[in-house]
Amino acid sequence: MKLKPWVKFLLLIILLGIIGFGVFKYFQKDKETIDNSLLKEHNISEKYASKTLEYVLKNNLYDENYLEEYSKIEFNENDNFQDIITTFLPKGYSGEEINYLFNLSDTNLEKLKEKDYLDLKNYYQIKNFNVDNFDRYNAYYAQNNYSYEDVVTYVNIKLDLPVYTDTTTVSDPDSLLVLVNKYNCLPKDYNPKDTETLPGAYGNNVPMRKVAKEALEKLQEAVTKEINIKLLPTTAYRNYNFQNTLYNNYVAEDGVKAADTYSARPGCSEHQTGLAIDLKNPATPSSYRLNESDYEWLKANAYKYGFIIRFPKNKEFITGYQEENWHIRYVGEEAAQIIHDNNLTLEEYLDLYITKY
Ligand code: DAL
Ligand code: ZN
Repeated sequence: MKLKPWVKFLLLIILLGIIGFGVFKYFQKDKETIDNSLLKEHNISEKYASKTLEYVLKNNLYDENYLEEYSKIEFNENDNFQDIITTFLPKGYSGEEINYLFNLSDTNLEKLKEKDYLDLKNYYQIKNFNVDNFDRYNAYYAQNNYSYEDVVTYVNIKLDLPVYTDTTTVSDPDSLLVLVNKYNCLPKDYNPKDTETLPGAYGNNVPMRKVAKEALEKLQEAVTKEINIKLLPTTAYRNYNFQNTLYNNYVAEDGVKAADTYSARPGCSEHQTGLAIDLKNPATPSSYRLNESDYEWLKANAYKYGFIIRFPKNKEFITGYQEENWHIRYVGEEAAQIIHDNNLTLEEYLDLYITKY
């Protein structure tokens, strides 16, 4: 069908008109909703018109001091919208900063309400940010060369404090994700209720929690099938008194400072949970436990059975211990997979994935 030139021209004008109207409406979208009489009533220039401004006017929350800021705050349907703007504008937060506050957890917001203005710009995007640690983050950032993300994690797990200070007594020692380290120790009398034994590398019977034992049996089957070696436990569950003797012997031999780099103080060893296992390839000489190739297999495969390498190389500053390529820890398959895939320690995993701030 052939159209006459003037029809084509008319259609083009109509099309341009529709597009132009759409663009105009797009930029008007905030302003069109506002009732101009409201602005007039308060003597406010139309250039400030926004949904947030309309909201504060309609709800009698308007304060002329914050006129500029209202136009920067994106209106949203959060239940705490009113609460946030009325609490944080008077504390000195800008409209842009208020937009960010909506990303924070309710717990953090509640804590923030109790405090004077804090400059949070470096922390808004960090999911494990904890308002309680704000001053420690800034101090640790100033002293180190870490990113803000790392600073938040490291301070949350207390790396800014000397070891064995601010020690917490673990409240859930039976949890498969229990964290036991130099800042989190078990009650002296804690012992797991469901231990079973497996034959050990020295002809002994090695106790550990049932769930760890069953997983270790699967790991043992796989390692024999895949690289034709045996991995036997030397020790797994150790009670408080055993660890006490062990640690004190090391201290007598080596001094506290050195002993602390490879042995946990009593109550603070995860061997007391029954979820940690030291492994040995019985074909190696008695003085050492795993060959490099044994360890390569373990590092690449332990997670499939719910275990992690608990004290890996290059993570000594986080775990607090020298590398122990023989020490594995049962955490369950889901956690073990994430820890393996992201090259994390248990400390980092718990802080980034489990703890709610
Ligand atoms: N060797 C580890 C750190 C312990 O004593 O639990
Ligand atoms: Zn160990």
